Amino acid sequence: MGMSQLKICVLGCGGFIGSHLVERILSTTNWLVLGIDRDGSKIAAHRNNSRFSFVKGDIDSCKDAGEFIEKSDVVVSLAALCNPSLYNTIPLEVIQSNFVRPLSIVEKCSQLKKHLVHFSTCEVYGTTVSASMHRPFDPKTDVFIEDKTPFILGPIHAQRWSYACAKQLLERAIFAHGFEHGLAYTIIRPFNFIGPRMDFIPGVDGEGVPRVLACFMEALLFGTSLKLVDGGNNFRCFTYIDDAIDALMIVLSYPQKANNQIFNIGNPDNEITIQGLAKLMTRLYGELRPDFAGGPALIENVTAKEFYGKGYEDSDRRVPDITKAKTLLHWTPKTLLADALKTTMAFYIKEYGNLILKQEAI
Ligand code: NAD
Ligand code: UGA
Repeated sequence: MGMSQLKICVLGCGGFIGSHLVERILSTTNWLVLGIDRDGSKIAAHRNNSRFSFVKGDIDSCKDAGEFIEKSDVVVSLAALCNPSLYNTIPLEVIQSNFVRPLSIVEKCSQLKKHLVHFSTCEVYGTTVSASMHRPFDPKTDVFIEDKTPFILGPIHAQRWSYACAKQLLERAIFAHGFEHGLAYTIIRPFNFIGPRMDFIPGVDGEGVPRVLACFMEALLFGTSLKLVDGGNNFRCFTYIDDAIDALMIVLSYPQKANNQIFNIGNPDNEITIQGLAKLMTRLYGELRPDFAGGPALIENVTAKEFYGKGYEDSDRRVPDITKAKTLLHWTPKTLLADALKTTMAFYIKEYGNLILKQEAI
């Protein structure tokens, strides 16, 4: 890819998406990566790469952040708290990390005339029009279209929406910087990316409640029950991380195709209910670990209040319209859900399976 040696600043390079982006850039281009994260464990394999400058620290207090932005051609802004279990439990930190802090990155990019690739979320859309009107899903009004669909978030006390609202306000600030100061930007709205290195397994390499994929993997690996929040009737479109990184690489390689655009990056063909996901992952786990003596996993219903606490509300369904990404970026996601899950689950089994067996033996 591209002959010129781009310098890419990746804020939050040690997270799930960041680690895949760093890996792809270093393995397929001659670009330089200047990255910052509080946690370097997921990118440890690249620390000795001479094209990767990594600073372990907090973006807020780290003096290298400004310098990295200044030195770069493009800034990819990923760092955020993005786990639904936090939205109604530490909402102030969620707002800080999804609006207040990234706003200063936006301002810096605007001032220094740097192309900003900012990671927003499909959660900005909130619930579907149909759900808010208490009528059945209608693809005509309910598929999410970047520059058309209205945003429907719950009331203030439903703090689940603190994240979506913070991300939405930041999108508005980015748009305004484009409008008033000529900021060149691209906003990505991811739809439930999944893949290796996503989140953590509680009690092994992290604490708290991760996103659904890691919650279900924890249950399968430990032989406990998979918990369905409010019956698991809500839908998600899961997108394989390699497909998502393909889209991002096109944005970075051909910024003119993506300038001042917002893109849904998701796979509408991979829609499933959370209950369906629990059943599919249970079946695949049995296939991937036929020797595992734990027997079939159990599925348990829990209320949202029991699982997440007060103030949680869910998105009912989020189907991306990806016409814009197909047309402008010539990008189409390729990986079907079962294949994405098989690769991802095989990673978790390899990474954590023996560790957990050892922990249980103690
Ligand atoms: P992640 O939690 O795996 O990665 C975020 C990284 O940012 C972490 O490594 C964390 O240590 C780092 N970080 C956070 N605050 C920091 C700070 N102040 N200083 C230094 N490092 C900091 O999350 P992810 O799944 O990779 O998501 C990345 C971005 O994409 C987020 O902005 C998220 O809102 C957005 N997003 C992701 C998804 C998805 O499907 N994964 C979906 C929608 C939106
Ligand atoms: C996620 C997060 O907000 C962000 O990471 C991101 O911005 C966005 O969506 C995205 O990935 O596109 P959500 O999809 O609600 O939000 O988060 P998950 O934790 O993955 O939950 C998905 C669904 O599974 C929800 O309905 C949740 O209630 C349910 N769930 C979760 C269970 O039924 N059981 C569990 O053990 C965990």
